[in-house]
Amino acid sequence: MTKTSETHDDSRRNFLTLAAAAPATLALAGVASAQTSASAPSALPGAGRAAVITGSSRGIGAATAKRLAREGYAVTVNYLTNHDLAAEVVADIEAAGGRAILCQGDVADPVALRAVFDANDEAFGGVDVVVAKAGIMNVGLFAQTTDEAFDRMMATNVKGSFNTLREAARRTRDGGRIIALSSSIIRQTPPGTGAYAASKADQEIFVRALSKELDGRSISVNAVSPGAVDTQLLRQHGEDALRGIPEATPLGRLGEPEDIADVIAMLCSESGAWINGQNVFANGGIA
Ligand SMILES: NC(=O)c1ccc[n+]([C@@H]2O[C@H](COP(=O)([O-])OP(=O)(O)OC[C@H]3O[C@@H](n4cnc5c(N)ncnc54)[C@H](OP(=O)(O)O)[C@@H]3O)[C@@H](O)[C@H]2O)c1
Repeated sequence: MTKTSETHDDSRRNFLTLAAAAPATLALAGVASAQTSASAPSALPGAGRAAVITGSSRGIGAATAKRLAREGYAVTVNYLTNHDLAAEVVADIEAAGGRAILCQGDVADPVALRAVFDANDEAFGGVDVVVAKAGIMNVGLFAQTTDEAFDRMMATNVKGSFNTLREAARRTRDGGRIIALSSSIIRQTPPGTGAYAASKADQEIFVRALSKELDGRSISVNAVSPGAVDTQLLRQHGEDALRGIPEATPLGRLGEPEDIADVIAMLCSESGAWINGQNVFANGGIA
């Protein structure tokens, strides 16, 4: 069954009700420490915490930004070129009573990425959740893949994610969460997806290694591997890219960005605290 807009409206209404009941809690979001929120049991789970989400102007990143903002996180919305879409995400969050800032920056450029984290720290006092989500998908058979398509994808998906995780390792406050987006395609790897799948398989290795480098700080580091999700990343390849996927998926539909945002929110919650160094596959059972 496809998630209906009624479902999303319901959850938005729930947030608005909560926001109206706890204005003081929301006012705290983004300026207090993680310890502050831990000592306030009635607060939203993200109150006093901040999240940097790379590539959150649309798709899974935008859904994740809105989801975490509903949980009280102050959010830094990063994008590459789509200023207007990113500004809409920030406006939606603010309209629902949350806090967010907009920050352009190419994840492949470590200097630009540091500036994104600096802007977050200046606005919200530090970072508690980092989601390395910016990614691109160039498909093509080996024989037809150009150097340019390969290099750009590796720069964004591999170097961009490494840059983000390195910055996260340096800055995430104790008790935080670091999450990288991998893909279920690393298990399936149909023809034409070799380079993309390789760039996503790296995420599993990155999080496994980083999860062992933050001893004693209660920071978990995980990957999330969506199956096919209805976003521009797939739609740019035409309707054929989506054909047959709902029928081949045991749960009978295409993934929605909110499905993945829910998994990321679970990893960020107290319920996700013991999951560390893992790759969580979220794909309706297709792989
Ligand atoms: N959709 C799927 O079926 C699927 C499945 C498995 C895994 N994933 C992974 O999930 C992640 C998100 O996918 P999506 O479907 O949400 O993609 P999407 O809708 O195409 O969104 C991509 C996002 O990444 C940003 N971005 C691209 N290059 C960037 C760069 N160099 N620096 C900063 N931001 C950059 C884009 O910003 P602009 O809008 O400014 O261009 C946009 O916000 C990707 O890592 C992808 O590999 C997706």
